[in-house]
Amino acid sequence: MTAQQLSTALDERQLEQFDRLGYLILPGLLPGHLVDALRPEVDRWVDEGLRARSIQSCVEPQRYGRPPVLELELPAHGELIAWPAVMDVLSQLMGPRFVFHHLHSDRQAPDLPGKPWHHDYEAGPQVDPEHLMVHTLHYLDGLDDRTSSLVVLPGSHREAVAKTARAHLGTQELPGELVIDDLPPGSTVVLHSGLFHARRRRPGVPGQPRYFVDTSYCQVGSQWPPVKPYWRSMLSRGRELGLDRGEWPELFAERHFTEYSKP
Ligand SMILES: [Fe+2]
Repeated sequence: MTAQQLSTALDERQLEQFDRLGYLILPGLLPGHLVDALRPEVDRWVDEGLRARSIQSCVEPQRYGRPPVLELELPAHGELIAWPAVMDVLSQLMGPRFVFHHLHSDRQAPDLPGKPWHHDYEAGPQVDPEHLMVHTLHYLDGLDDRTSSLVVLPGSHREAVAKTARAHLGTQELPGELVIDDLPPGSTVVLHSGLFHARRRRPGVPGQPRYFVDTSYCQVGSQWPPVKPYWRSMLSRGRELGLDRGEWPELFAERHFTEYSKP
């Protein structure tokens, strides 16, 4: 299938933008029925303490072991990982061979503090920095003047610096930044994982919860550091559940990862 035949064919301008600036904004990429299936799963993930439990498993793996439920075991979350429109976009940016790295899901409370400037590229001794890692940030209800904003620093993916190199700046406004604060439901922002970004609160606004799911993927060819101690179990569940839809044999392959080590 050529890019022209894909349902979400990116044009030259978008491909050039991603390469040069490190992001793409895809309003309404996810259909309403998928968003409607994801939202109650996010509620369950937060309200039943499953999110908190999965964090405990990352912080104290010896004590907590694998979480009782993984995000990708929630049916719509599992479907999202290889959702055709998402895979169309990713394969145009990364080529056909990439592996799933992780998925996070959250209903962010209106009073949640901002998240300082950072990037999420998993550099490592066995990672070729030419190899892409991509985050797809899915905003189930979109973004508007009642939610925190996503702020990105276009072009910063080309710097070879630590994830925390701008953390001392908090979420403050930076020259050249782009504020993304107005998106319809089911919108996705695709980031080169090395792009600096922040979550910025709107001071003085009562706000509303922000439903946010992010999935990330790495180009095949490097050995990537896993982010969760139970990463093998996560990949194996992805394979057992057939989440690659029989079309993406690399998506849950262990051989693309190094051993886990605590950050
Ligand atoms: Fe991030």
